[in-house]
Amino acid sequence: MSAMNTETAWGWPARVLHWVMALMIVMMLGFGTYMSNFVTDLVAQFQMVQQHKSVGFVVFTLAVLRVIWRLANPRTPVLPADMPGWQRSASHVSHLLLYILILAMPISGWLMASASPLNDAGAYPTQIKNMVFGLFELPDPFPQGSKDLTEALHTAHWAFAMTLAAILAIHIAAALKHHFIDRDSILRRMTLGRD
Ligand code: HEM
Ligand code: HEM
Repeated sequence: MSAMNTETAWGWPARVLHWVMALMIVMMLGFGTYMSNFVTDLVAQFQMVQQHKSVGFVVFTLAVLRVIWRLANPRTPVLPADMPGWQRSASHVSHLLLYILILAMPISGWLMASASPLNDAGAYPTQIKNMVFGLFELPDPFPQGSKDLTEALHTAHWAFAMTLAAILAIHIAAALKHHFIDRDSILRRMTLGRD
């Protein structure tokens, strides 16, 4: 099993990172929408938001590792020779946007939660702060937050989530099209890691 990417397949670190993060991010999108819009019990919602922040921190850590690994491995599997130019461009643009969004999601979430007056000194005991699995507190760039700033950042977090979901739908449709219609190795080289 090769760790490095080759011309025909992704190495195991790239594949493990891709699929572990895919699972976590899809769950975060669904769960985030649910807790934000459909949970009325404030105590239950508070606990869900704390879990959401913790998992989001893990996603951020993995995203940084993933980008570092990708930059350290500039060689990536080549696209099929007969692929039209617009599809090559679409794949590059959408992958770049996906990388940007998996960083923008946790960063905007963290900024929103930090801006919240609930996260300011003296507002509440430490349990309500931006704790990661109750272990440590995330830095707070807004020691004196405001409701307006929190709302603006919530809108940004929401807009990033919707954009991510839309690109993801195209990304999944493209992967399935390659596998079942074109019958090429695009999906296989990201799953089994072979041509
Ligand atoms: C949140 C979920 C996901 C994210 C953020 C994501 C992100 C990415 C990114 C950034 C790449 C480009 C890798 C690179 O060129 O550096 C990629 C490749 C790929 N993704 Fe996803 N992905 C997700 C879910 C999925 C799902 C559900 C599928 C399949 C149904 C899938 C199938 C693929 C395949 C086949 C490739 C390889 C493309 C190639 O070899 O050229 N992804 N993904
Ligand atoms: C992969 C990373 C993340 C994804 C995909 C994600 C996704 C979402 C989604 C879809 C919502 C619902 C937005 C709405 O309908 O208005 C949401 C809300 C929220 N997220 Fe995230 N999020 C991520 C990371 C984070 C992080 C790291 C934090 C904080 C440290 C965070 C804090 C919040 C908060 C405070 C809310 C609003 C809860 C409320 O309505 O009061 N998120 N997130």
